[in-house]
Amino acid sequence: MTRKACVIGWPISHSRSPLIHGYWLRHYGIAGSYERIPVPPEELSDFLARLVQRGFAGCNVTLPHKEAAFRAVRIADGATGRLGVVNTVFARDGELWGTSTDGEGFVASLAASLPGWRAKDQTVVILGAGGATRAIVGALVDQGSGRIIIANRTRARAEELRRDFGSSIEPRDWTETSDVLGFADLLINTTSLGMTGQPALEIDLGNLPKSAVVTDIVYTPLETDLLRRARTLGNATIPGLGMLLHQAVRGFELWFGIRPEVTADLYDLIARDIDPGYRR
Ligand SMILES: NC(=O)c1ccc[n+]([C@@H]2O[C@H](COP(=O)([O-])OP(=O)(O)OC[C@H]3O[C@@H](n4cnc5c(N)ncnc54)[C@H](OP(=O)(O)O)[C@@H]3O)[C@@H](O)[C@H]2O)c1
Repeated sequence: MTRKACVIGWPISHSRSPLIHGYWLRHYGIAGSYERIPVPPEELSDFLARLVQRGFAGCNVTLPHKEAAFRAVRIADGATGRLGVVNTVFARDGELWGTSTDGEGFVASLAASLPGWRAKDQTVVILGAGGATRAIVGALVDQGSGRIIIANRTRARAEELRRDFGSSIEPRDWTETSDVLGFADLLINTTSLGMTGQPALEIDLGNLPKSAVVTDIVYTPLETDLLRRARTLGNATIPGLGMLLHQAVRGFELWFGIRPEVTADLYDLIARDIDPGYRR
């Protein structure tokens, strides 16, 4: 039987999910499809209500539907319950379930780049407190991170994360960013700053320890200015594309029954789609 999945959003033309899942379908020789479907907000509940009837095993959900989809499906796990968003929907026994895979995607990307790295008892400095930060903070707290310092332009959003995820979260003002870098074992940019078309992330890396690992969840460009500067200083760096690939793993497994591997070939395929001049 041919199995079908899709990604829904409004707009959706930018999504690279069809390229990722299409690669895995070919790689594992699965008779299935993964399509991109534009769904305007007012049609979301109808679309989800008819998803199984139309023969879909499930879908990915992207902007602006992540919160509305959370309310429309059964929530598969406690970690997703704390987030209030889902990015992956799957059918089981005629019902739709939802989960969020961004947190595990982030942690898996870290583990793949730095075998043996453990969040446990490490100090993490996070720039930003938006939607993606919530998933990452949830995953790091579950992994036992000792201290998570969060500097955000709107401090109230960092305070909210402390309320929701506990006292290991330390909210800071955006103006303190350069100072708190001195504590970092791991530095994560989760703001949209530095993304193609967005303002630059202007930050003084003078206090950053040489031993700190630096990662950015922005993946356009593949190597952000933050990563380039950190690499030049001798820090280990991890690009955001790994998180995008690893967050897709569980959806594919739920819909098509095989846990796929994030390979160097897949990385290269998507990296070339982002930057045709990319060379490994
Ligand atoms: N690699 C992946 O798989 C992956 C997954 C998800 C997201 N992303 C990327 O991560 C980025 C954030 O996504 P999101 O969904 O979390 O977005 P979001 O909810 O809109 O959050 C944006 C964050 O950026 C901050 N920000 C925006 N403009 C700023 C400025 N001029 N100065 C200082 N801070 C600023 C916001 O601060 P305020 O709270 O003050 O507004 C907020 O913390 C995007 O570039 C997205 O493409 C990547």
